[in-house]
Amino acid sequence: MRYANITGWGKYVPPVVMSNDDLARVVETSNEWIVSRSGIERRHYSHLTTGEMAWQAAEQALAAAGVAPEAIDMLIVGTTTGSDLCPNTASFVLDKLGAGNAGCMDLNSACTSWFYALCNATAMVRSGQIERALVIGAEHLSIVMNWHERSTAVLFGDGAGAVVIEACDQPSGLLHSAWSVVRDSREVLEMNGLGINPTNLFQAPARHLAFDGQAIFKNAVKGMADACAEVLAKAGLGVEDIDLFVPHQANIRIIEALAKRLDFPLEKIVVRIQEYANTSAASIPLALTDALEAGRVKPGMTILMATFGGGLTCGAGLLKWGERIEAKARAPITAASFNGNVFDLMQESFAYHGIDVSSLLSAE
Ligand code: ACO
Repeated sequence: MRYANITGWGKYVPPVVMSNDDLARVVETSNEWIVSRSGIERRHYSHLTTGEMAWQAAEQALAAAGVAPEAIDMLIVGTTTGSDLCPNTASFVLDKLGAGNAGCMDLNSACTSWFYALCNATAMVRSGQIERALVIGAEHLSIVMNWHERSTAVLFGDGAGAVVIEACDQPSGLLHSAWSVVRDSREVLEMNGLGINPTNLFQAPARHLAFDGQAIFKNAVKGMADACAEVLAKAGLGVEDIDLFVPHQANIRIIEALAKRLDFPLEKIVVRIQEYANTSAASIPLALTDALEAGRVKPGMTILMATFGGGLTCGAGLLKWGERIEAKARAPITAASFNGNVFDLMQESFAYHGIDVSSLLSAE
């Protein structure tokens, strides 16, 4: 049998931090409200584009795997915030890496994009079509926030995570997966004003992310729990057989409700929402990379993943970790740096919503 082992992993975390207290200068909110309702303590906002973040995370994943860019056969960028609609973001990453022997594509299923990309790449490896793939999740959400909508503006951050998968003959990598869509729920989470259609192009409505928080909350818990039950049944395993759980990081209360529904112990769950907030497609590869760097992943572990996003799309997967848990090498950060604070960085985005940064800073 052929399998698709994860041999490399990496992340890009933007250096500019937006704390809850900083955010409270922009929207009517407080650190106490954000922490108690979401578990988020800070988020990172990017001066790089989605493509540049994806490239930086990919460099780390290749270095961790010890794989040359030319050896990659397929490169997939899972993202809802691709830097361009055409050409795709993946071709930018491919050019930057010099991965000239690969095919490349973007995949957009909202927050589930990286997981769905992993499912596709794994299937390509396991069916013998390719030997190696680079699967990246990257998002630049800070620039699509509506700074007049506090219930959404506090929940999101930017970042990228990536893995390298390679063909092998030992059972490892993604072994089982499940996907579903909650029908007739497209309006529950939308990127308003973005996308090619006559309204957006000719009437230019306001561009921002919008959602119905409570509808997402309920559907996310049920959708992820059902998907987890499906993959566990496919594998003939129970929750007691799972060593580590890496769920999508949207809200700590969603993760806690999911754990309760599955009767899964919280201490075996990787939670990084406090640091990154919801980074959509980047959330699981970021959390997985952090778990590896923190020594929480051990050789041979059985790892459960669960995800949901706009659509509403859901999914779950069972990973069998291989032998290696140490990166072979680290790559240097080669993207441009940023000199300034978060208010400098976000000036244009605030101005788009009619908010003047100097008035924010002087209103102390
Ligand atoms: N600061 C202070 N008060 C706030 C804030 C804020 N940032 N946001 C909302 N409130 C207020 C509301 O106005 C409301 O006030 P009211 O009672 O006077 O009307 C009160 O807090 C309660 O609002 P609720 O919406 O009932 O708060 P809830 O406990 O449901 O939490 C939240 C809202 C955090 C959005 C929650 O519903 C949630 O996390 N939903 C899931 C959202 C999500 O994960 N979205 C993205 C996922 S999709 C994806 O990952 C692709």
